[in-house]
Amino acid sequence: MLHQMEKAATEAIYPARRKVSTRVLLFALLLSTLMVMLYFRHIESTPSLEYVQHQVKFEGRLPILPEEDPHLLYGDRIEAQLAQEPEGSLHSYLIFQQFDDNTEQTMWLLDQCPIKCMMTNMDAHIASADAMIFTPDFIDRIPLNRRQHQLWFLQLLESPVNTPNLIDFNGKVNYTVSYRWDSDFVAPYGRYVPFAKPKAVLDKAMSRKKKNVAWVVSHCLTANRRMQYAEKLAKYIDVDIYGECGKQTLSQEEMGKVLQNDYKFYLAFENSNCNNYITEKFFENALRNDVIPIVMGAPKEDYLKAAPPNSFIHVDDYESEEQLATYLKFLTTNVYAYNEYFAWKRLGRIEDSNLPCRVCLFLQQVSPKVYEDMEEWWHGKKECMYNIEPPAPFIQ
Ligand SMILES: *[C@@H]1O[C@H](CO)[C@@H](O)[C@H](O)[C@H]1NC(C)=O
Repeated sequence: MLHQMEKAATEAIYPARRKVSTRVLLFALLLSTLMVMLYFRHIESTPSLEYVQHQVKFEGRLPILPEEDPHLLYGDRIEAQLAQEPEGSLHSYLIFQQFDDNTEQTMWLLDQCPIKCMMTNMDAHIASADAMIFTPDFIDRIPLNRRQHQLWFLQLLESPVNTPNLIDFNGKVNYTVSYRWDSDFVAPYGRYVPFAKPKAVLDKAMSRKKKNVAWVVSHCLTANRRMQYAEKLAKYIDVDIYGECGKQTLSQEEMGKVLQNDYKFYLAFENSNCNNYITEKFFENALRNDVIPIVMGAPKEDYLKAAPPNSFIHVDDYESEEQLATYLKFLTTNVYAYNEYFAWKRLGRIEDSNLPCRVCLFLQQVSPKVYEDMEEWWHGKKECMYNIEPPAPFIQ
């Protein structure tokens, strides 16, 4: 009798206990998952030792030059350079900047900057300028009797593949300007800057265009075989080629109109495949003209870092030209999917890096510097794929 009662009692208790223990188990599981998540978030958000050391070293000020941030943890340093607050009395310096030879020679006041500097592209002012910003081809115009305090900023617009040997500049250049983050003044061809508040709607619809792929190109033979790729792609989808290698040359203005009104896609193919080398072909030709850029050049990760969200199609994502064409054709028939590539225009815009103003602010309190081995600094890093064809010099 007692035995039976005991059994009944046990049966009455056990199911409940089992339920409780399942709940406890579930709760414990949830709790531990949460703790693991919190732990990893903690790891992610804990600044590295170097980061902390730099914070201390610069007393709260963000790094201005790359040697202040050797691991480039702070990115392009553009905001920090624009935010420099000079102390003491301010000077208006004269900055010479080399422009296209057919640009009119003139002088202008740098407004849109907290400090006013004079800018010029006049040869007559080369000798007296406080700072000179020029590209490697300027070498013949540089005066031999350089003013003692004149600062030289070497601007590198091409990738290392298409830049001549820089040995003549060894020991002469003070600061570098290029798309690379290890440059003193990082000058990307465009910067994606998010708006403080997203816009409610897109300004215009994108899908009314009638033609498929356009490409404007003036140099047909490049190290990355972009022409061969385009020709193969053209077997599967319409590709209209303009410029020296195509059927018709277009002015910059005509090109803008044609792309904006007619074409759905643009081949923003760089002339060389180098890390972070993303040029005006992407930012200006494609993004500004409301065509989806199909990109070839830097690795996809670099584009993801520099480009607006969901704004491009990278050729590396497709096994073949045919597969890419299939995807493009899908987009031409699906308005919603096509327009998704322009959704970023609600979220931010492309801006200029404002190099002249950064240089002007920097001149107020320079950190002395000389590149003893300019050639090694630019060409010594393995960051380009030279493997395909021998590089042809000076290719646009
Ligand atoms: C700039 O470079 C020149 C040439 O090497 C050098 O004499 C001068 O000291 C440098 N200026 C600064 C501020 O580093």
